[in-house]
Amino acid sequence: MNRVRQQDLGTPASSSADTVKVEIDGLPATVRAGTSILRAARESGVDIPKLCATDSLKPFGSCRMCLVEVDGRNGYPASCTTPVEAGMKIRTQTEALSKLRRNVMELYISDHPLDCLTCSANGDCELQDMAGAVGLREVRYGFEGENHLDAPTDATNPYFQFDASKCIVCSRCVRACDEVQGTFALTIQGRGFASKVSAGISEDFLDSECVSCGACVQACPTATLMEKSIVENGQPEHSVKTTCAYCGVGCSFVAEMRGDQVVRMTPDNDGQANHGHSCVKGRFAWGYSTHRDRVLSPLIRDRIDEPWRKVGWDEAIQYTAKRFREIQAEHGRKSIGGITSSRCTNEEVFVVQKLVRAAMRNNNVDTCARVCHSPTGYGLKQTLGTSAGTQPFDSVMDADVIMVIGANPTEAHPVFASQMKRRLREGAKLIVVDPRQIGLVKSAHIKAEHHLPLLPGTNVPIINSLAHVIVAEGLIDEDYVQARCDTDSFVAWKAMILKPENSPEEVAKISGVPADDIRAAARLYGSARRGAIYYGLGVTEHSQGSTMVMGMANLAMATGNIGFSGCGVNPLRGQNNVQGSCDMGSFPHELPGYRPVQDDAVRGTFEKHWGVTIDPEPGFRIPNMFDAACAGRYKGMYIQGEDVAQSDPDTLHVEAALRSMDCVVVQDLFLNETAKFAHVFLPGTSFLEKDGTFINAERRINRVRPVMKPSQGKDEWLITQELAQALGYPMNYENAAQIMDEIAELTPTFSNVSFRFLDEVGSVQWPCNANAPMGTPIMHIDNFVRGKGLFIETDYVPTEERTNRKFPLLLTTGRILSQYNVGAQTRRTDNMVWYNADLLEVHPSDAEMRGIREGDLVSLSSRKGDISLVATITDRVKPGVVYTTFHNPETGANVVTTEHSDWATSCPEYKVTAVQIAPATHRSEWQHGFDENAKRQGKILETS
Ligand code: SF4
Ligand code: SF4
Ligand code: SF4
Ligand code: FES
Repeated sequence: MNRVRQQDLGTPASSSADTVKVEIDGLPATVRAGTSILRAARESGVDIPKLCATDSLKPFGSCRMCLVEVDGRNGYPASCTTPVEAGMKIRTQTEALSKLRRNVMELYISDHPLDCLTCSANGDCELQDMAGAVGLREVRYGFEGENHLDAPTDATNPYFQFDASKCIVCSRCVRACDEVQGTFALTIQGRGFASKVSAGISEDFLDSECVSCGACVQACPTATLMEKSIVENGQPEHSVKTTCAYCGVGCSFVAEMRGDQVVRMTPDNDGQANHGHSCVKGRFAWGYSTHRDRVLSPLIRDRIDEPWRKVGWDEAIQYTAKRFREIQAEHGRKSIGGITSSRCTNEEVFVVQKLVRAAMRNNNVDTCARVCHSPTGYGLKQTLGTSAGTQPFDSVMDADVIMVIGANPTEAHPVFASQMKRRLREGAKLIVVDPRQIGLVKSAHIKAEHHLPLLPGTNVPIINSLAHVIVAEGLIDEDYVQARCDTDSFVAWKAMILKPENSPEEVAKISGVPADDIRAAARLYGSARRGAIYYGLGVTEHSQGSTMVMGMANLAMATGNIGFSGCGVNPLRGQNNVQGSCDMGSFPHELPGYRPVQDDAVRGTFEKHWGVTIDPEPGFRIPNMFDAACAGRYKGMYIQGEDVAQSDPDTLHVEAALRSMDCVVVQDLFLNETAKFAHVFLPGTSFLEKDGTFINAERRINRVRPVMKPSQGKDEWLITQELAQALGYPMNYENAAQIMDEIAELTPTFSNVSFRFLDEVGSVQWPCNANAPMGTPIMHIDNFVRGKGLFIETDYVPTEERTNRKFPLLLTTGRILSQYNVGAQTRRTDNMVWYNADLLEVHPSDAEMRGIREGDLVSLSSRKGDISLVATITDRVKPGVVYTTFHNPETGANVVTTEHSDWATSCPEYKVTAVQIAPATHRSEWQHGFDENAKRQGKILETS
C-alpha cells in the first residue's frame, strides 16, 4: 500500500526568474537566484541535515545542524540562511562538518527522552532521522544534570497534545503560527536553558488564542506537538490525496490511514488552494464521517407520523419510484422535482439534475446555492459574462488594496484568510465593509485602514457612494473603460452614480457610516494600483443581492481592476462545491455550463446525448417549490444532502410545505431536520467514501478520492442512477469517471477535464478546454467573457423588511470557525468544545435598555416567529444590530427570518430581519416543539 511522503526542501522556493550555477559536493547545479544552499542541495538530491528549517517557513538559523563549507569563506555558514551565489563551491559532507553536527545533536539528545521505540512519532520524527543521519550512537553527557525530561504535557486541545519534555525549542511551531496561520498564539518564553514554548501567559492551548489550525503540529519536527489520533492509533500505513469537504477554499489533504481507519488528515503541500495549510475543520473535524449517528440502511414509511422501516436498497428505490410515478399520474409531470447539494461531488450533482430533466421529465431542479450565491452567478454573468469569481486565491499576494465586503474570512474561509493576512502584514491596505467588527478589522499585526460598519441592508447605497466619490474625484481608469467596456452603459452608469442621493453625505444617513469614512475608503480603493474585492453572503443574501454584485463589478471595471493578478471581484463561496453545483446545471433555467434550457440548440445537444425530449420551460426554484407545495401543486421531491428545514428561511413555511407533500426523499448522512418530514431516507456517503470532484471558490476542480468503501453499500451517484432506471430512464454509468467524461463532452468550459487529466496535473481552474488546455487561473485577461464589460445601473431599492416600534433592531447572521453551516458535521466532532450553542450578540446599550445581561436567556421575535437564545454583550455589533449564528437546529434561527428575497434570483434575505429582544424565562414554543419532535424521532429509530 502506498503512503504519500511529502517532500520538505528546507526553505521556501525563491520567486526569482533568474538562475545561478553552483557546485555542490563537486556536482554542478542550476537553481533560482535567492535559493538557500540548503534548498539548492535538496533540490539536487543532497540532504543536508536540518532541524529548525522547513520549507513552509522563513529560515531561522537556530539549530546549527545545517552547517556547510563554502570555498573562499571562513567558518561554517548555516546553509538554511545562506543564499546561493553564482559560482559557489559548496561542500556538505566533510569530517569537520560531521563532527560539528554530531556535537550539536548530542546536546539535543542529552535533554530528550530516549523512548523512541515507544514514542508515537517513532518512524516519523525528524530528530530521530537527524540523529541517524549524523551517525550519533552514544551521548557523552548523561542525563544526570538539569534537564526538561519531567516537563508536563498539555493535553487540553481535543485534537493534539503538547509534550514539553520532547521540545527542542527550534521555534518552528511559533513561526508556523505567526507566518503561516497568522494567529501569533505561541511564544518562546524565557532565555537559554529556561526557554520554552508557551501558548500564552499561564494559559494552556485550549484557553489560548490558538484556533487549532494544526500548522504548529505540522511544523514540529519532534513528538512534542502531536495529533492525539496518532498517539491513540499509531502511525499511518498508507494514504490517499483528497479534498476537504467543508468550505469553498477547497484545501487538498493527504488522508492518512491505518487499515481502513483514518488516523490523520495532513494538509497537502502540493495543494494549489492551500499550499500545505489547513483549518481546524478539515485538519481535525473529520470524525463525523464514521459517527454512530450515521444511518447505514435505507428507511421508508408511508406517513411521516409512522415509524421508519429499515429496508434493502432495491425496496427503497422501487418504493420511491412507485410513489413518484403515482404522484405524477395524479398531479401531473411537474408535480415532483429535486434539489442538488453543494456538499456533493460534481458527478453526484450532475446525475441528480439529469434525473430530474430526463427521468422526471421537467426542470424542477434547484440547488442549495439558491440560498447563498445565486446572486453571484447572476450579477457576474450580466456584467462580466461568467458566473464565477475572477481570480485564483494566490492573486491576493499581488493586491495593494483589499476590500472585504460582507464576508468573515477568518471564521468562514480560514486558510484563505491566513494567506490574505500574510499579504496585509506585507503592507497591503485593508477596507472592511461589514455591520460587525469582524476579526480582520483588528487582529495580531493587522489593522484595517477603514471599517465601514453599515446597517444591514445598505450595501447598495455604500457601493454606489464609493463609486460616486471615485467618479467625482476623477479616479476612474478611463483608458481601461474605453478599451474594454461598453461605453454607452458606462455613461449611463456614471450619470446614475453622480446623482446626489449617492453622495457620501446622503448615504451616511441611510447606512450609518460617516461620510468621511466612505470618502476615505473610496479614495484608497480608487487609487490602488491593484485593488481586489472579496465578498461573501453578507453581499448576496439580500433583497438587492444581485444589484450589489453588479455594483461591485461596476466599481472594479471603472477602476480597471479586472484581468490581472492582485485585483478582481471574488466571491468567497460557502460550501465546498457551491461553484460546482451551479456549474453542473442545477438551476431550473440552465443546463450544465449555464446554458439556457429555453435555447433550442442547447437543449438539442443534451437531447441527442440523453435520448429524451427536455422540457423547454424552466422549472421551480426552491421557494417556488415550497409555495407550490403549500398550494397543493407540488407533491414530491428528492433532496440530495441539504437540510432545507434548518437552512432555508421562514422555517414554519418550509415545514408546512414539507408536511403537505406526499413523498419527500432525503439523501444524507444523518437523519436531519428535513428527514422529520420525509417518507424515504436514502443514506449518503461521506467525503471519505466519494470518488469525484469538487470545484472551489476560485473555479479549481479538485479530485475527491475514496479512502474507504461506502459504508452504506452504495455510491451516491449509483443511488440516483438506480432511481432513474426505476423511473424508466436508462442511466448506465459504470463509475464516476464516466460521469465526468460526459460533463466534459457536454460542457464547453470543461472539455479538457477528466479524472486522468486531474490525476496528472493535480487540479485545474475552468475554463479548461482547447483554448486553455491547462485551465484559466485569471479570467477576463484581454477581454471580458461577454465581450465588452457591461455597466449596469444599481439604483437603491430599500428592503421591505423595515424596523418599527415593535421590531426596532436588525438581526443579521453569520458563521463561526469551529462550526460549519447547519452543523450536521461539526456538531458530531470535538469542535463542540469551542462552540456548542448559538449565541445572540447584543450591543451594551441595547442590552442595558432592556435589562439584558451577559448569559441571559432572551426571546428574539420577528414578524415570522419567536425563538430564545443566550445573549452575549459585545460592541462587535453596533447599536441597533443583533447577530447570531445558525449552526444548531434547536436554535431555530430561521424561524425568525423572512420570505423576502433577491429580486433577480430569489436568494433569501437572511441578513436583514427586523426583530425585538427581551429577557426570557423559558424557551420558545417552537423550540419546545423541536425538543418533543427530536425525542420522538429518536424513539422511532430505536423501535424500528
Ligand atoms: S514544540 Fe516542536 S516545533 Fe515547537 S519548538 Fe518544540 S520541537 Fe520545535
Ligand atoms: S494550532 Fe494553529 S493557531 Fe494554534 S498554536 Fe498551532 S499554529 Fe497557532
Ligand atoms: S479552509 Fe475550508 S477547505 Fe480548508 S481545511 Fe478549512 S474548511 Fe477545509
Ligand atoms: S536548519 Fe539551518 S540552522 Fe537549523
